[in-house]
Amino acid sequence: MLLQVRNVTRLFGTKAAVDAVSFDLPKPGFVGIIGRSGAGKSTLLRLMNRLTDATRGEILFEGRNVLSLDGAAKREWQSQCAMIFQQFNLVPRLNVASNVLHGLLNRRSTVATLLDFWPDDDVLKALAILDRLGIAEQAPKRAEALSGGQQQRVAIARALMQDPKVILADEPIASLDPMNAQIVMDTLRRIHDEDKRVVIANLHTLDTARRYCDRVIGMRDGRVVFDGTPDQLTTGVARDIYGADASFSESATSTSIDALPSDADAEYARHMLA
Ligand SMILES: Nc1ncnc2c1ncn2[C@@H]1O[C@H](COP(=O)(O)OP(=O)(O)OP(=O)(O)O)[C@@H](O)[C@H]1O
Ligand SMILES: [Mg+2]
Repeated sequence: MLLQVRNVTRLFGTKAAVDAVSFDLPKPGFVGIIGRSGAGKSTLLRLMNRLTDATRGEILFEGRNVLSLDGAAKREWQSQCAMIFQQFNLVPRLNVASNVLHGLLNRRSTVATLLDFWPDDDVLKALAILDRLGIAEQAPKRAEALSGGQQQRVAIARALMQDPKVILADEPIASLDPMNAQIVMDTLRRIHDEDKRVVIANLHTLDTARRYCDRVIGMRDGRVVFDGTPDQLTTGVARDIYGADASFSESATSTSIDALPSDADAEYARHMLA
């Protein structure tokens, strides 16, 4: 078993942001996590990458409980388990290549970082990754000069610099227009398909989860209320996950990447509730 999340709970005060969550991933998958605002999606990702500590439970990756790691072992896990955020989290005034090289920060001395000194091999690797993602020509530009979609690809490049086994993406396309959203999701999917890295992405629209994921986990009030394939994610199930009533309108809020099959159910289920 590659990844086993076992009974993971995170309390804030008396409230469980993540409540006894369990799921297994036998092999590298492309997993979407959906659920309304406050369902616990971000907290779950932060628990996996140890940005937040769990109150109880275990997360086993390749058999090792990553929740009990400390010090260097914890940092090593964090570099194997890269995060991507909605707001990209680049250094705006730094050039693109340096932003990508910052994916190696865990491994570098403070002096080298202060002087912005990078070994040639690392620079070449960064440029190769940017080239792979179709943005090599942006390398010398300041990050802030790029479009949102380009910036998110720089963030993905920075993640790849760590050569991670897992990529955790927290609403990676929530700030992007539909075209850039598609480019970024295609990029993540390609990285999964070609490199066999695990991708776990919190997604705010059902249509994106359906289109890109092999597996969808639905959360509600900190709990897993659905765990299945996109096919199994019927309208009734979606309504249950989002806790919506029958009156919600699909078209109002969905970041539609592409038209789904036009049956009424799919239309209805593409609804996103923030
Ligand atoms: N640091 C914190 N302190 C207190 N409560 C928190 C903290 N972080 C999260 N919570 C609470 O935990 C619950 C889950 O939050 P989380 O951010 O994981 O939800 P989410 O599903 O990512 O929502 P969104 O779709 O809005 O991003 C919420 O009720 C939130 O208020
Ligand atoms: Mg969130």
